Amino acid sequence: MEFHVMTLFPEMIVQGLSTSVLGRAIARGIISLNAVNIRDYTLDKHKRVDDYPYGGGAGMVMSADPVVRCCRSVFEKIEEKKRGEGKEAGRRRVIYLTPQGRTFSQEMAREFAKEEELVFLCGHYEGIDERAVEMVVTDQVSIGDYVLTGGELAVMVVIDAVARLVPGVLNNGDSAEFETFHDHLLEYPQYTRPEVYEGRAVPEVLLSGHHAKIEQWRRQQSIERTRALRPELLERAVKEGLV
Ligand code: ADE
Repeated sequence: MEFHVMTLFPEMIVQGLSTSVLGRAIARGIISLNAVNIRDYTLDKHKRVDDYPYGGGAGMVMSADPVVRCCRSVFEKIEEKKRGEGKEAGRRRVIYLTPQGRTFSQEMAREFAKEEELVFLCGHYEGIDERAVEMVVTDQVSIGDYVLTGGELAVMVVIDAVARLVPGVLNNGDSAEFETFHDHLLEYPQYTRPEVYEGRAVPEVLLSGHHAKIEQWRRQQSIERTRALRPELLERAVKEGLV
């Protein structure tokens, strides 16, 4: 799967995503990351990418032209690759990270993980000229109800959550399946050695080797935890007949 990120700070994206699990997945060619500097697409002789807002007000607005030109260049690159592979150029998703977007969720991550490539747009300053948003953006996504200085941290959150669902990125094929938010439930508690730590013993059932009993205990723990910590999720699971 290919991730393309249009940003004014490509080094932030590359550094942030090139360690640990995702770094390994990139090195193994399971996913690829293409961080593109929007500033490379401005025609302004001073390389400016922002300007004062029409109507006045605080801050600067990112100009439409560098964003639109950057996006067209990314599309061309994707299309060229598709042609080389003899594939059809399908629908292209361009995701703009903004506090005004739909709140990101595990469901959204699952939906995005079905795409062969995703293009992300990071805003800065007081936002992006609305015409560029209208022209290139297909989805607007927020990572929560708070305001960041730019979309870079947000895009890293989204890419991390999507990439770990791509087959082969995690070592264990199961671990993306049975985890927090599976069936809208939180994950059950986990334990590793030693068997007793500062007087606290690992629950007996986990040492029993009885797989059906362990599964049953874990499911029960997931339900209890969700009831205690996130009752609204449990309500949803019950409504959808998952519990
Ligand atoms: N850009 C600034 N704040 C953001 C947020 N909460 N989510 C996504 N993008 C953002």
